[in-house]
Amino acid sequence: MTISRMAEFLKESPTLCLNQKAAEFKRLGKPIIHLGGGEPKSKAPESAIIATKNLLNSGEVRYSPASGIPDLKKAVIKYTEKNYFHKFSSENIIISSGAKQAIMVALQAILNPGDEILYPSPYWVSYPEMAIICGAKGIPINTEQNGFIPKIEDFEKSFNANTKAVIINSPNNPSGKVYPKEFIRQIIEFCEQKNIYLIMDDIYNELIFDEKKKVNPLEFVSDLSADSKLIITNGVSKAFAMTGFRIGWAIANPVLITAMTNIQAHQTSGPSILGQVGALAALEGEQREIEDLRLNLQHNRNILLDLLKSIPNIEIIRPEGTFYSFVNFSKIENDSVKLAKLIMDKTFVLTVPGIDFGSEGYLRISYCGSIEEITEGINRIKWLLDPNSPNEYYLQDRVLVKDNQLIGI
Ligand SMILES: Cc1ncc(COP(=O)(O)O)c(C=O)c1O
Repeated sequence: MTISRMAEFLKESPTLCLNQKAAEFKRLGKPIIHLGGGEPKSKAPESAIIATKNLLNSGEVRYSPASGIPDLKKAVIKYTEKNYFHKFSSENIIISSGAKQAIMVALQAILNPGDEILYPSPYWVSYPEMAIICGAKGIPINTEQNGFIPKIEDFEKSFNANTKAVIINSPNNPSGKVYPKEFIRQIIEFCEQKNIYLIMDDIYNELIFDEKKKVNPLEFVSDLSADSKLIITNGVSKAFAMTGFRIGWAIANPVLITAMTNIQAHQTSGPSILGQVGALAALEGEQREIEDLRLNLQHNRNILLDLLKSIPNIEIIRPEGTFYSFVNFSKIENDSVKLAKLIMDKTFVLTVPGIDFGSEGYLRISYCGSIEEITEGINRIKWLLDPNSPNEYYLQDRVLVKDNQLIGI
């Protein structure tokens, strides 16, 4: 059978294989602990559920306009005004099926085959694959030597005539790092000077901990005219725990929004009307859930960090937002797929290999689950990786047995 070159080129994610394995283990009754998750466990806002139910009960579940319903655009404008202190108009907004589609159609609207996009590494798994779908190339900018904070000089070094855009995601999936205000100022200036697009993937910008503050890119943008090349993407998935509603949006200049709408119209049409009505109700609600979730995740992060301290020979980089930590296990095992598989096979704990995010030697460990899951999951990993721990780990109705030779410790 032949498939397109592009489809052949897209990688099957090791995460997907591990997820399948976890599902299979679960089916077999194994005590799986999921520390690989990418979604909050809290419930969607009550207002979103009621609004969606009401529409469903009416039976009038129809197509929406390709760029989304006007009321939701108005709610996004209000939300953006409150968070970014600038009032956009509805011509600046497209509603998409998740922030993922908003980013995808933005890239499809700005990239030609052979173009390049720059983004800090570690990066969200979808950026390189989205570039491939556009016939373009993703260029990761390594940040490992600088505690996962990108340096503007590295973007300058990687820039060439093919560079069309930069993507910045802060707080960052997978590192949890919040990029400093100074870097955001520099990258905006860099993109304006080079006349290239800047996509600010702000999907986690409500989930920032401690004294850190979200950075408003609009503070530094000199051009918000019709020619502006700034694209801001966001959505209800993470902050409102509404991943399954599949609603996100992009804010950009009206010409680009029209181009994105044309692409989206032929790709999926407008996003599901049920999702949009739910997102509208969430945005129009009190939004108390966001602060509850943020505090909850901050507490989980603190517990995770305390637990991780007891594992010898790992390096912990303190997450400042999101619900991910990116932990360096390279002194124990540098092959992250091998290590994640071993942890899964021996302890039934699911983590995500760092190589998926462009960094070998790391595992992404999520703390969006319950305290019990986090504690039990890390205890099992510690048991497996600590050469001084006993050979057996007792669970209620079974015993896990390790083999230190397997990981060379
Ligand atoms: C960095 C980043 N951007 C965008 C998205 C997409 O979010 P959505 O569920 O709105 O498509 C995700 C989801 O995991 C993400 O981690």
